[in-house]
Amino acid sequence: MAQIKKITAREILDSRGIPTIEGKLVTANNIKVYSQVPSGESLGKHEGIELRDNDKTRHLGQGVLKAVSYINDSIGPKLVGVDTSRLEDIDNWLLKADGSSTYQNLGVNTLMIVSQLILRAEAVDQDMALYQYINHLYNTKFKENVHLAQIPTAIYNMINGGKHGTKNLDFQEFHVVTSTSTKFSKSLEFAVATYNGLKNLFYERNADVSVSEEGGFTPNLFTNTEAFEIIKEVLLSKKVKLGVDVFTGLDCAPSYYFKDNKYAIKDRGASLNDDEYIDFITEAIDKYNILILEDPLQEDDFNNWAKLTKQVGKQVFVVADDFVAGNKERLKKAVAKGACNAVLIKFNQVGTITEMLDLIHDIKKAGLRLIVSHRLGETTDALIADLAVGVQADFVKFGSPARGERIIKYNRLLNIEYKLGISSPYKS
Ligand code: PGA
Ligand code: ZN
Repeated sequence: MAQIKKITAREILDSRGIPTIEGKLVTANNIKVYSQVPSGESLGKHEGIELRDNDKTRHLGQGVLKAVSYINDSIGPKLVGVDTSRLEDIDNWLLKADGSSTYQNLGVNTLMIVSQLILRAEAVDQDMALYQYINHLYNTKFKENVHLAQIPTAIYNMINGGKHGTKNLDFQEFHVVTSTSTKFSKSLEFAVATYNGLKNLFYERNADVSVSEEGGFTPNLFTNTEAFEIIKEVLLSKKVKLGVDVFTGLDCAPSYYFKDNKYAIKDRGASLNDDEYIDFITEAIDKYNILILEDPLQEDDFNNWAKLTKQVGKQVFVVADDFVAGNKERLKKAVAKGACNAVLIKFNQVGTITEMLDLIHDIKKAGLRLIVSHRLGETTDALIADLAVGVQADFVKFGSPARGERIIKYNRLLNIEYKLGISSPYKS
């Protein structure tokens, strides 16, 4: 039994140098835990709203001092004496305190920090690793028997465009994915080799080797096709079978290039209508062995999502990120229409751990694949690695095998892989 003695918060910076929140919880039996929340850049129209100060004299209005003071002066004091085993009650109370469906009053960032702290403190009190406790919570709540059998397959970011890039490429992320039967530690090794292979190729061709906030390269290429071609070239130089051992992935994030009801991609002279664009995507699937196809279409076009999923859903994972954006109603509609076969979830799209677990359960129950994702603005908190293993997600998307705030999550997976007895620290 761990009773809350004190919950406090402070403003810290995320990986972009933009403010975010760090929380601290101390219990009466002296457990001390910390948690941090990430923040997105290419925000879906339908995701939860963060509380920002909008005080233009600090951090361009992005400060989170209001959120911090809500935790320090109001939420924290009210939770003193409450047991950390009551996560669901506390989460429901937080939602009521906010009172909106978009978290616009207290902010999705404020609620999520408090919820994460309760989860962490209880795991420590129960003497369980975080992934074990999340697994226990999930199985107990939904009367399931999810075994801690595997590490999710990682989707590694290699090249960035769109809102995450330097305005030359339209698609936001180009990925590399190993087959789902590859051991995680092996896939990480392969991803690093591919990443370095790309870097060397860019050097050889006097191209730009700058990287984006998620660690993917932002080279001075001109079309999406060129980005695919160069990844393919590196993959073909390895001893792997493309389309069997290794695949590519894509996060289109089309809000960046969907203009005047058309898809304006640089690979084609003119903007493409829905059918032309879908043809372009389906050709790329075959040509570049795409396995992960995230947000291929604009987020309100349920009919074309359904059409594309029907067309390619046996071959690729058509992944809803901004399309569902953690929103239960949108998930229901997407399932009813058969509009995707996988869903990506991110912290701070929903406000509490309880809602996150509910959403995960809904996704799995609907027979869809689950991807647990980082955000562009990350922290050194690795909670999502534990979450992904705890609920046995199919995939994780944590960025490139580079940059500390991404690597800390991959390293956590390596550590859990040893702990689950899948690999040994002395041989790979
Ligand atoms: P975001 O990007 O954190 O900017 O939302 C990640 C993604 O779109 O997958
Ligand atoms: Zn996305």
